Amino acid sequence: MTHKQNKVDASSGSSFTEKLEQEAPQVWPGPKGMIPVTSGRADDANVHNRNYLDNILVEMRIIDAVKPDLTTEFFGKKYASPINLAAVSHLNKVLPDRSRKPMQEKVQAAKSQNVLNWIGMESNQDYAEIVKNSGDTVRIVKPFAEHEDIINELRFAQDLGALAVGMDIDHVPGEDGKYDVVDGINLGPVTFSDLRRYAHATSLPFVAKGVLSVQDALKARDAGASAIVVSHHHGRLPFGVPPLKMLPAIKEALADSNMTIFVDGSLMTGYDVYKAMAMGADGVLVGRAILSELLQAGQKATEEKIKLLNEQLSQMMLYTGIPDTKSFDSSVLHFN
Ligand SMILES: Cc1cc2nc3c(=O)[nH]c(=O)nc-3n(C[C@H](O)[C@H](O)[C@H](O)COP(=O)(O)O)c2cc1C
Repeated sequence: MTHKQNKVDASSGSSFTEKLEQEAPQVWPGPKGMIPVTSGRADDANVHNRNYLDNILVEMRIIDAVKPDLTTEFFGKKYASPINLAAVSHLNKVLPDRSRKPMQEKVQAAKSQNVLNWIGMESNQDYAEIVKNSGDTVRIVKPFAEHEDIINELRFAQDLGALAVGMDIDHVPGEDGKYDVVDGINLGPVTFSDLRRYAHATSLPFVAKGVLSVQDALKARDAGASAIVVSHHHGRLPFGVPPLKMLPAIKEALADSNMTIFVDGSLMTGYDVYKAMAMGADGVLVGRAILSELLQAGQKATEEKIKLLNEQLSQMMLYTGIPDTKSFDSSVLHFN
């Protein structure tokens, strides 16, 4: 994927991240230049996310509609909105100005807006620094080849007060068709019995992040996960089906399970968030929607972006007569 191809997505501030790639060492987890834009090629699942989202239209139900309440509960705790800040790792290593700490700025923005923050690949030492004085955290651990490292990170997060832990099970394959290697660390396959072990390694709720089929959703349930994220991890899977398109079947399959279903993937506005919620998500993760603001301008700009996303979500809920985040209704949606 080249820098030129990355210019496709104007809405996400790609020029700033492109500049960063030139100035800072390439430490992004994933193909060079993937973040936060799309290549425009058919094998790039982000393209299909965007097309799918943009072809959902919404009818209006304004009579009797009232200003909605966005409050949403996750893992027994209340947050200001169904929007969670996705795990976006390594951000403290990408700015030319190393005195800034975007990971900490993200944590503080989430805390000030009372939204739930997720943290991905970081060493235990860096994780401990990042969550100092933080709000609630969902800690997502990589599928390391070394299983004891996984258990160690899960338990470390529990000791530091994480609200939930989990694993991005969709980060097993590398682009070379072998098990991926991230920062020199080998990743490995995740069997059902591995997953069951991880899910029971702490007393915290366990999240299987990166579920994109009914089969995996049922396995995650049977392994003891309390939640899943329907996701393909910003397009790791070539030709990946849009998570939103998979959501209804997965939701139906898990209907009797009490599991929390998050979804992510190219949700760049509060309007996209609305569509994800209307299609049945209990909550959403936004990563790239906040990335430019976070990297370019830090905590305050990130807070403003969270406010904007909430305002757009609220506007759509008011237009469609949805009073709260438990009352979404997919019958307002029209698929072009
Ligand atoms: C810079 C960056 C780093 C990421 N690191 C992680 C990670 O360490 N663990 C993880 O589970 N997901 C990671 N993700 C994936 C996100 O959590 C999310 O699933 C994905 O970006 C899709 O959401 P989005 O389209 O809103 O960005 C990362 C994403 C980005 C952009």
